[in-house]
Amino acid sequence: MKHTKPTRRSWAEPFKIKVVEPLRTTTRQHRMKAIKEAGYNTFLLRSEDVYIDLLTDSGTNAMSDYQWAGMMLGDEAYAGSRNFYYLESNMRKFYGYKYLVPTHQGRGAEHIISQLLIKPGDFIPGNMYFTTTREHQERAGGTFVDIIIDEAHDPESLHPFKGNVDLQKLEALIKKVGAKKIPYVSVAATVNMAGGQPISMENMRAVRKLADKHGIRVILDATRAVENAYFIKLREKGYARKSVAAILKELCSCTDAATMSGKKDLLVNIGGFLAINDAKLYDEARNMVVVFEGLHTYGGLAGRDMEAMARGMEEMVKADYLRARIGQVEYLGEKLLDWSIPIVKPIGGHAVFLDAKKILEHIPQDRFPAQALAAEIYLDSGVRTMERGIVSAGRDSATGAHHHPSLELVRVTIPRRVYTQAHMDVTAESILAVYENRKKVRGLKMVYEPKYLRFFQAQFEKI
Ligand SMILES: Cc1ncc(COP(=O)(O)O)c(C=O)c1O
Repeated sequence: MKHTKPTRRSWAEPFKIKVVEPLRTTTRQHRMKAIKEAGYNTFLLRSEDVYIDLLTDSGTNAMSDYQWAGMMLGDEAYAGSRNFYYLESNMRKFYGYKYLVPTHQGRGAEHIISQLLIKPGDFIPGNMYFTTTREHQERAGGTFVDIIIDEAHDPESLHPFKGNVDLQKLEALIKKVGAKKIPYVSVAATVNMAGGQPISMENMRAVRKLADKHGIRVILDATRAVENAYFIKLREKGYARKSVAAILKELCSCTDAATMSGKKDLLVNIGGFLAINDAKLYDEARNMVVVFEGLHTYGGLAGRDMEAMARGMEEMVKADYLRARIGQVEYLGEKLLDWSIPIVKPIGGHAVFLDAKKILEHIPQDRFPAQALAAEIYLDSGVRTMERGIVSAGRDSATGAHHHPSLELVRVTIPRRVYTQAHMDVTAESILAVYENRKKVRGLKMVYEPKYLRFFQAQFEKI
């Protein structure tokens, strides 16, 4: 093999491997049976039938020796565990909110905030929907309204902050329905469904200002806010010399509360929280968490889980970690771009998103091209990815019709600190093999559709 001289210096993972988990390879015949039995839904595969698992970055992180050591210090008291107080103090240190309500994961926090703030008939503007977030908003009687900038819906747009809120869209909604019917603006950092795209600090400040003018709260989905802060450092004027930790705190300071899935940025396998500044709202949340999650000092988590989250906060803001984390996603994305495979640009923070609409342009959206593409990649190599298109978008709760999102994507999601560059090479080569045979891929029909969050459990057959 000919080796060309590098054009830039490489980074490497800032850790070495102490424990390994063997991976299982399978035959194509085995995978053919497995994916058919799973109804062509990668969520329904058994993980032992998967080779490289890029389904999600949620709860799939590798914890450090420091976090594992902390697990042994779990104080498994029902009430007042010391791990809770450590998590609370680190939340204040890194995110800057006053009060902490732990939850078993992100959607537990979304449930509580939605039930407390949304009344039937309300509207919740947000920078693109997220599946569980919107579901909880709708269950509380609200209607989600997308106010993200138009560029976010265009996979080719190179806008550096495709997660930005379109302030004119927000203002128009306020004018149309009145501020009283908008309990809060729901802002995500980074925006998962747009391709892991960040929001800029400038935009976040402008959202805060506009919301203040009308007395509306701003609630942050802080699930991947650290990765957002890293993009601000790289891309926004005036932030290059600031630490990611300082940028994160500044970002959160523009908002009133945050829902958090600890299963991403916090480098753990389970956990989440609701963080709040308002004492009255905190009081209500602290009371409600007891009904759905557990006492307010554990919220459905073991003491050891809270300890691992607290320690994860200390690791998530480290520059060498973030460089390798975002660098690995970029490495895979650039490889696909070099081979002219259509992906969402710029490359996102937690995943590379394949543009299934372009790759399988012969399959209409109602035949689920992204679902078919994810199944085909699995069939080729055992690499598991997931659909982020019409299936994930679900149905309009008022009319019952499919939502038709402009983005029809397959998310190739990278767990944190889990896979090596060689795994990225194998993944890229599998995607290339499927891409080269794309004309042969057929669409799917949905044969089973669950009522809520259908992408998790829907089943399909080949047409
Ligand atoms: C942006 C975003 N918000 C919220 C959630 C929900 O978090 P959880 O899966 O921990 O309930 C997720 C999880 O995938 C997410 O990506």
